Amino acid sequence: MRIGVFDSGVGGLSVVKSLLQHQLFEEIVYFGDTARVPYGVKDKNTIIRYALEAVEFFKNFDIDLLITACNTVSAYALDEMREYSNFDVVGVVKPGIIATENVLRSLESEILIIGTQATIASQAYEQPLRAYGFTNITSKATGLFVPMVEEGLYDGPVLQAAMKHYFRDIKIPDAIILGCTHFPLISDAIKHYFNHHSTMIHSGEAIVEYLEQHYALQHKFDATESKFFASENPEGLKNVAKKWLAL
Ligand code: DGL
Repeated sequence: MRIGVFDSGVGGLSVVKSLLQHQLFEEIVYFGDTARVPYGVKDKNTIIRYALEAVEFFKNFDIDLLITACNTVSAYALDEMREYSNFDVVGVVKPGIIATENVLRSLESEILIIGTQATIASQAYEQPLRAYGFTNITSKATGLFVPMVEEGLYDGPVLQAAMKHYFRDIKIPDAIILGCTHFPLISDAIKHYFNHHSTMIHSGEAIVEYLEQHYALQHKFDATESKFFASENPEGLKNVAKKWLAL
């Protein structure tokens, strides 16, 4: 099976990492829209337009499935992408919601959702979780984490200051939804900030579980061929891929 993975930039490589670890696919074609990142501060129509242009890009490859690794795109553009595709399209929001429901035992559990401004404004995580019955949900846009991860600031005083700024009034959560592809890179620092109490919901791990359940992917591939494309500075993206994925 050949799949496409789409993200607004390099962040989706955190999802590719999970896909590679679980050896689910024979070939992965990755496209990061590095020329136009971040999507998380754009409006709905722009996000949809960019997402449909990405679909056009993937039409050049004979893919069976497109994984939208970007939470922001998953929150706003999945229906439109499905309509314009001749392949199946899955996003990361639904798998993240299912993973959260599976790990929490009580509907009283404290849930913290963090993501870009656009993802949080969409309520794409919060609404279905409230409909499921969870009552203690805090949603917080933490957009500053995105450029920090891009800068390689996975810990240290700048990240600590940003965490204090965003989390100062927040009770220690039972689960934290990392509702942005960049945040798995700072998962350890966030976990430490909350005294290692919270279960982290990671888009990559959540989508692997979802795909294994919904797509009958029994076969494990010894090696996965990965191709990386970017709308700007593809070499930069390939270097990040080498570092994050240890290629
Ligand atoms: N990839 C985006 C997401 O997961 C984060 C970066 C952006 O704002 O484009 O929401």
